[in-house]
Amino acid sequence: MNFRDGLKFFQENLRQSNSVGAVWPSSPALSATMAEPIFRERAGASEGEGKPLRILEVGAGLGPVSELLIPQLRPGDTYDIVELNPTFCEHLRVRFAGTPARIHEMSILDWQEEPYDRVVSGLPLANFPADVVAQIYRTFFRLMKPDAFFVMFEYLVIRQALAVATLGEERKRVRRILDIEHALLPLQREQIDIYLNVPPARVRVRGRPEHPDSFRL
Ligand SMILES: C[S@@+](CC[C@H](N)C(=O)[O-])C[C@H]1O[C@@H](n2cnc3c(N)ncnc32)[C@H](O)[C@@H]1O
Repeated sequence: MNFRDGLKFFQENLRQSNSVGAVWPSSPALSATMAEPIFRERAGASEGEGKPLRILEVGAGLGPVSELLIPQLRPGDTYDIVELNPTFCEHLRVRFAGTPARIHEMSILDWQEEPYDRVVSGLPLANFPADVVAQIYRTFFRLMKPDAFFVMFEYLVIRQALAVATLGEERKRVRRILDIEHALLPLQREQIDIYLNVPPARVRVRGRPEHPDSFRL
């Protein structure tokens, strides 16, 4: 990820700020922390060991996390990227041509596939209406195998600050998102704060509920 890529990302954020939701791509520290759990259980295992993994990346942007994960793929692994923004998809198609990664230009809400072992998400959930946030989490659950986990990040403090610094409908929206996040706490496996990012961010690793259909968000 070079400075020119950063500028491209910045320009897309100016055009589509609600869906891009960040001024600059994730830093190397944040990207590495997002990527680390995905192949952790394979660390030290030889090529033939372990089952192939089905991996879904949502909201890849210009691919700072993808570029760490795709080189680690082994034969039999699946790597699907679902990204809404056409400019980013074009960049990803060129950047990852000749790799096993498959780029799908669409919203995650419309993505239908067999369940995955790992989901890694860069979606800017704090920008979305609260019912869309709940829908996105339900979509993740639908796309996860029972023992799968998902990795995501949020910007530190921003939601809590918005919950007190906003009024009316916006305050309701942010508070409802905080309630949704609270409901997800039992699924949490790990939480790591990264200060080497603008703004600082929290990475969360979460499992899938045992009974997704009855899980209340
Ligand atoms: C905050 S950026 C993260 C980009 C990248 N993962 C990074 O860390 O730099 C969010 C990305 O999510 C994408 N996005 C937003 N809504 C989406 C949706 N409904 N389905 C798929 N991608 C979406 C945006 O186009 C954008 O590329």
